[in-house]
Amino acid sequence: MSEVLTITDSRTNKEYKLDIQDGNIRAKDLRQIKVNEDEFGMMSYDPSFENTASCKSSVTYIDGDQGILRYRGYPIEQLAESSSQLEVSKLLIDGELPSNDELSKWVNDIKEHNSVPNEINDIIGAFPKSAHAMGALTSLEAALSTFYPESKNITDEDENYRSICRLIAQVPILAANFYRHTQGLPIVEPDNSMDYAENFLNMMFKGDDNKMHPDLVSAMDTLLILHADHEQNCSASVMRNVGSSEPDPFSAVSAATAALYGPLHGGANEAVLQMLTEIGSVKNIPNFIEQVKKKEVKLMGFGHRVYKAYDPRAKYLKEAADKVFSVTGTNPLLDIALELEAIALSEDYFKGRNLYPNVDFYSGLIYESMGIPKDMFTVLFTIGRTPGWLAQWKELLADKDQKIARPRQVYTGYDSRDYVGVNNR
Ligand code: SDX
Repeated sequence: MSEVLTITDSRTNKEYKLDIQDGNIRAKDLRQIKVNEDEFGMMSYDPSFENTASCKSSVTYIDGDQGILRYRGYPIEQLAESSSQLEVSKLLIDGELPSNDELSKWVNDIKEHNSVPNEINDIIGAFPKSAHAMGALTSLEAALSTFYPESKNITDEDENYRSICRLIAQVPILAANFYRHTQGLPIVEPDNSMDYAENFLNMMFKGDDNKMHPDLVSAMDTLLILHADHEQNCSASVMRNVGSSEPDPFSAVSAATAALYGPLHGGANEAVLQMLTEIGSVKNIPNFIEQVKKKEVKLMGFGHRVYKAYDPRAKYLKEAADKVFSVTGTNPLLDIALELEAIALSEDYFKGRNLYPNVDFYSGLIYESMGIPKDMFTVLFTIGRTPGWLAQWKELLADKDQKIARPRQVYTGYDSRDYVGVNNR
């Protein structure tokens, strides 16, 4: 017996039965609800998509009330403890943990694409040294698409695999080469004898052993795992929206990177550090909390559209911070962060709104202690999230339910009116 939702329209007293599938209705089934037959039919009005499932996906599962996060069914805690960034990337993109041979092939395929066209470095050289790293990265990812025109053949699975390998391999290179440019340092070529996280840190800080400590390399790999995917977040939705019109994946990743840049999304890790720096000391926290309650400022790194409990990643990042600080020495802003968190978790204003630390609350403190410049914090988020975006993109292309994304609107503007010449206005 199929499950149905029975709706009675009080305007016409007509009754409608809408199929319930997986506990939901298809929004398009609302279109049959009309007053007059020549109408377009009913839509669901859902600004910011707070209650809209845009797709069916098996990549990532989040339970916001329980604070659960799983990649392809595996709990994030287990992956952070036992896996590696490239193994998790393969899991997200292909759906299963790879065998030894599959993992070796994957790692080698990525290393095979571990260089960027020389002209990209000329483009990097044209950026002012003061350019924000995310503005540069967004541009450089799109620029990469011009060197791989064959990547537009998104119906060619071999081509898509090459694009996926190129993006996972080259986004960190774009980031590191841009950083070296801003520091007036020569580019460090990728070293394929190194694992992914170590190679990135080496391209950034070669020769500075303090920044290449094995515990920092391990922490970086864990950070990339924790940031790898998060179901239909703002930037993943952009990756799917842009991907639905079928451009090359480099351009779609550039669009997703632009979405992540915003301070309400991935840009929050940079905004948290700005906030902690402006608070300046523990004694200023009560005054800051009052400003938050008056809605004059936001408590950056707190709150989440889905998590109404502690973000499981924030818990892990707090532990990772201890490992990093044991090498780098603690970050003076950590005391402010810990006190801010303690107060926020005890105050009704935050508890009543289910505001808990999210992934961005601690990550910035860790990145700063590792010597990463503030405007590159969200670049690190981008490096971690690129495999997740590509997993979502690959799933979109294979989903027969999907076509070009084109929402409708509730029109609130003028009805038809006649043009008036400028002298008569
Ligand atoms: C990420 O979606 C994802 O999965 C994202 C992400 C991922 O991995 O991809 O998890 C990564 O983007 C994490 C979020 C990082 N952003 C921040 O830390 C910025 C600060 N947080 C807020 O801007 C906010 O919490 C959002 C944007 C994260 C979520 O916003 P919502 O779901 O739209 O919540 P809301 O704005 O409707 O807030 C509900 C209430 C409001 O108060 P009332 O109107 O009910 O009185 O909570 C308040 C808000 O004013 N509120 C905050 C707050 N966040 C929400 N008040 C103070 N400080 C905050 N941070």
